Amino acid sequence: MPTGDDSPGAVLVDRDAIQTEVARLAAQISADYGERTAHLIGVLKGSAVFLSDLMRALTVPVTVDFISVVPYGPVTASGVVRIRKDLDEPIEGRDLIVVEGICASGRTLAYLLRNFQTRNPASIRVCALLAKQCARPQELTLHYVGREIPDVFVVGYGLDKDERYRNLPYVARLGA
Ligand code: IMP
Ligand code: MG
Repeated sequence: MPTGDDSPGAVLVDRDAIQTEVARLAAQISADYGERTAHLIGVLKGSAVFLSDLMRALTVPVTVDFISVVPYGPVTASGVVRIRKDLDEPIEGRDLIVVEGICASGRTLAYLLRNFQTRNPASIRVCALLAKQCARPQELTLHYVGREIPDVFVVGYGLDKDERYRNLPYVARLGA
């Protein structure tokens, strides 16, 4: 496969490794939640593939909702994001697990957690398949993480470059 700057290059997490992580995370969450219903909140669109695998591997009762956000102004500056599609259902009193495909600077998740906190859920945890090794807000705890990866741009398994490559069944670096 040609590996120009804008096409997928080296595979970072292959199909089997992803499924191993999904099974491990699901077992951990299932053990932690017991009889409680985990209300999964998928952060669109990057979490879609991960969420669909994760939810099928969970053995606890599960409900699902989605939210979609867009960065507001220069992404790197404020960390302010705008909600493009809000949750369909109230979250008051529910045990939330915010599900992300990848956490980089953590600004998106930090914003979402602050926003959800104001709606009085019973608890909030965060599950990310991938976490980049980079600085994150101190208040942000990632409770369930699949793989830590270097601070490089990756695509596949839901993650895109300009909306492409979400369908790849593995996670690859972009470019050679
Ligand atoms: P953060 O707010 O910097 O943590 O960025 C989180 C969002 O940026 C994720 O939800 C992704 O949509 C996007 N993102 C960050 N890094 C990558 C990457 O390497 N590939 C694809 N999307 C990424
Ligand atoms: Mg994207």
